[in-house]
Amino acid sequence: MTTPRKHKIIAIDGPAASGKGTLARRLAAHLGYAFLETGMLYRAVGYAVLQDDNDPADETVAIFAAQNLAKTLRPEDLQNPALRTDAAGSAASNVAKFEGVREALLRFQKDFAYAPKDAVKGVILDGRDIGTVICPDADVKLFVTATVETRAMRRLKELQSKNINTDFETVLHDMKARDARDSGRDTAPLKPASDAHIIDTSDLNADEAFKLSLDIITAKIR
Ligand code: CDP
Repeated sequence: MTTPRKHKIIAIDGPAASGKGTLARRLAAHLGYAFLETGMLYRAVGYAVLQDDNDPADETVAIFAAQNLAKTLRPEDLQNPALRTDAAGSAASNVAKFEGVREALLRFQKDFAYAPKDAVKGVILDGRDIGTVICPDADVKLFVTATVETRAMRRLKELQSKNINTDFETVLHDMKARDARDSGRDTAPLKPASDAHIIDTSDLNADEAFKLSLDIITAKIR
């Protein structure tokens, strides 16, 4: 018989620019839980491939980079601001479709979720397949989403605040392409777990999304 785990697991999934990252970070701070933004793992692989002037759509190269990263990976490696660029995000969504890449990054995520180093009360992971693949037995699963137009508008504002010159049509086009790659792939496609709570943030601001999510979590975790 396995010992029941003592800490809680919250899985937060959703498409690009749905607000899941902001929400997950805020919930983790509020609850005092450890937080892993799993997209940073895929971004780190995509970035490593780009740094070597290789193509993120090349499966052999992408798997090699993921296996290499997994050997030495420390949580602080994921703090590199270069991983936040759109180029790294796009490379991430290319490498993320390869099963070998996902397999290489599985152990790190499972360890974070099921064997936290410090005696934490709980952990939050955000990504695309946390509720379906990484933590199918999570105590609470949230699927955070919004219309593609809303998400593109949010991403546009974010890029403009960084003085990146682009327009709505371009961002919308890229967002649709990213959605198609994330949802259409064979391995761990983006989809809500059957027991996930759907949080549609199209008409919610960050505070409202936080309050709604916290109410759901509090009702499930007493
Ligand atoms: O923040 P944003 O939504 O732009 O992306 P992210 O969460 O940093 O993830 C970047 C890319 O990594 C996504 O487009 C996914 O293709 C991939 N990813 C994934 O496949 N599985 C995860 N658990 C997390 C990210």
